[in-house]
Amino acid sequence: MLKSKTVLIGITGGIAAYKICELIRMFKRTGVNVKVICTPNALEFVTKLTLQNLSGNEVAVEQFDTGNFTPGHIALADEADVMVIAPCSANTLSKIANGYADNLLTSVACAFTKPVIIAPAMNTGMWENPTIKAHLAHLEKNYIICRPESGFLACGTEGNGRLCGLDTIFDAAKDVLTAPLKGKKIVITAGGTVENIDPVRYLTNRSSGKMGFALAIAARRRGAQVVFLDASKGSALDLQKAVNVELKTADCIIMAAAVADYRPKMVSSQKIKKNSEGKYLELTENPDILTEICLKKRPGQVIVGFCAESENLMENAQDKIKRKGCDFLVANDISREDIGFGADDNEVLIINRAGEIKRIEKAPKEIIAREILKEIWGGANGG
Ligand code: PMT
Repeated sequence: MLKSKTVLIGITGGIAAYKICELIRMFKRTGVNVKVICTPNALEFVTKLTLQNLSGNEVAVEQFDTGNFTPGHIALADEADVMVIAPCSANTLSKIANGYADNLLTSVACAFTKPVIIAPAMNTGMWENPTIKAHLAHLEKNYIICRPESGFLACGTEGNGRLCGLDTIFDAAKDVLTAPLKGKKIVITAGGTVENIDPVRYLTNRSSGKMGFALAIAARRRGAQVVFLDASKGSALDLQKAVNVELKTADCIIMAAAVADYRPKMVSSQKIKKNSEGKYLELTENPDILTEICLKKRPGQVIVGFCAESENLMENAQDKIKRKGCDFLVANDISREDIGFGADDNEVLIINRAGEIKRIEKAPKEIIAREILKEIWGGANGG
């Protein structure tokens, strides 16, 4: 399946450039055609000859090639199925975010209409610079970002900014090229529901929606049709309605949202006054959406629940999957600050109906999302 594909690898000037030699080999082993563009600075770290030998293709560097009738940036952009920019320096990252096209690599990136994967690598100070963060946030809307990892950096310090694992970049490209979830409609709920008390106050929870959002991105990247239901835009009853509509046509529903178990029995149409009677809030139970859809699901539909626990994670999750009746349950410990609610990372146990348990160690939510999809759809299908 990969044999007919072309990957265009863009290398910028950073010490991690040497690692891309191995990435080229990984792609070549699958039969993918690999083309390479370097910024002039990249060639300070790795030679053209090495890249040419490994890729089996001429390496492009110059923006204006008089020996060629087709404009280089258009030809390279047309030829490739996916572009991978790794390592992406702070300089190139900022240029792409602002639409600059001042060398061959940035010109191709600007002209590229298919998916672009960006794997930044830089010194921790640069990575944490507010301007770089703002550029990254902008890029995240349209590009696939393989975020750097924490670890020992070439500048002798320890911190965030090291190029992510080559497997992460390779897998991201493979997902784009093979689209293993093409034809599947996946509905994902995310965030915390909002239960109004009066026009001013409401009950909600600490869910940021990051886990569900990561799942939505991961599923879309693998070719699925994704319906993203943002629970923070309404109440549990609103979410129940929306989920039930989608249930009719979904292949899979993933309930990552933190749904309120209770809502105020009465919602005051006026702001409750300080001296009024309403000192005590009377609550009534919300429907359990997950349990409901599991009872209604069609054969072949896959329903995935989440399980947020602050103690006895394994035991509570094993009990919950039986009570709720879902196909998979993803359990996370929400007593920890470094994972779960609001964090960029998570660590989960995935339990299936048969009671089998798979532990996914702490990793960015994007990676956890990918592992969850893999588990749900099986190795081959999940990518
Ligand atoms: O959003 P983030 O900040 O990234 O944090 C992610 C997360 C911690 C919110 C997420 O990983 C998570 O655990 N989501 C589920 C939270 C939750 O409500 O867990 P629960 O154990 O209370 O509920 C179990 C399952 O039943 C969940 O799939 C929930 O969506 C569903 N449920 C719960 C109550 C209810 N009335 N109806 C439901 O459908």
